[in-house]
Amino acid sequence: MKFSLVPSFLLPLWAAAAPAAPATPENPSFSVMSTRSGSPIHFLPMNAAGQKFWLGGETTSYCPISEGCPPGNQTVFGPGGYGLNVMVPGGQQVYVDPNGALSFTQAHSAYIPQGSAIGPFSYQPGQNWGYYIFSGWGASGFMACPTEDNRWQVFAAVQNATVPKGNVAECLGFNALANTADSSPAAWQYI
Ligand SMILES: *[C@@H]1O[C@H](CO)[C@@H](O)[C@H](O)[C@H]1NC(C)=O
Ligand SMILES: *[C@@H]1O[C@H](CO)[C@@H](O)[C@H](O)[C@H]1NC(C)=O
Repeated sequence: MKFSLVPSFLLPLWAAAAPAAPATPENPSFSVMSTRSGSPIHFLPMNAAGQKFWLGGETTSYCPISEGCPPGNQTVFGPGGYGLNVMVPGGQQVYVDPNGALSFTQAHSAYIPQGSAIGPFSYQPGQNWGYYIFSGWGASGFMACPTEDNRWQVFAAVQNATVPKGNVAECLGFNALANTADSSPAAWQYI
């Protein structure tokens, strides 16, 4: 990467996309749990699967070596929530795709579709847990949208999202509670 070729006006964007700072107590790695009382998505873990995120279901991950991989059964974000806490070289970046769906890059690829939002994401500390926030596109965090196969997919909470069943009114906004996780990677790579 030749930094000299990056125009200076792009540098803040570039910095935002770079892997986050090391985990600290104020800025930890974290897993996410949804809360929205009196709804079907109260207390569901946020899981990475198929380059997207879901409430409930299972985390899907891959281990290319015979031993030495983390369990890979929990979805853990790196500090700041710009990436996933993985071992794979190059990491896996988190972004919001042009449909508004929270997404992550494939291992060994930096490809992000044009028109995606690469942030701002943030971790907001709290008393017993923190909050994971997306504030791009004027969004107020995240919402979960029902799918044809009865899952809940995670989107940025924006009215213009293109959602699985076509009707944003069916989506439920939720609080993304961030629970501090171990700072060591939680998976080799998510798939
Ligand atoms: C993940 O796997 C580990 C090791 O097999 C196990 O101890 C742990 O309970 C599992 N965690 C979840 C969230 O399923
Ligand atoms: C949705 O609207 C926001 C705010 O106007 C805009 O920045 C964004 O590009 C739009 N996103 C989509 C998915 O059309």
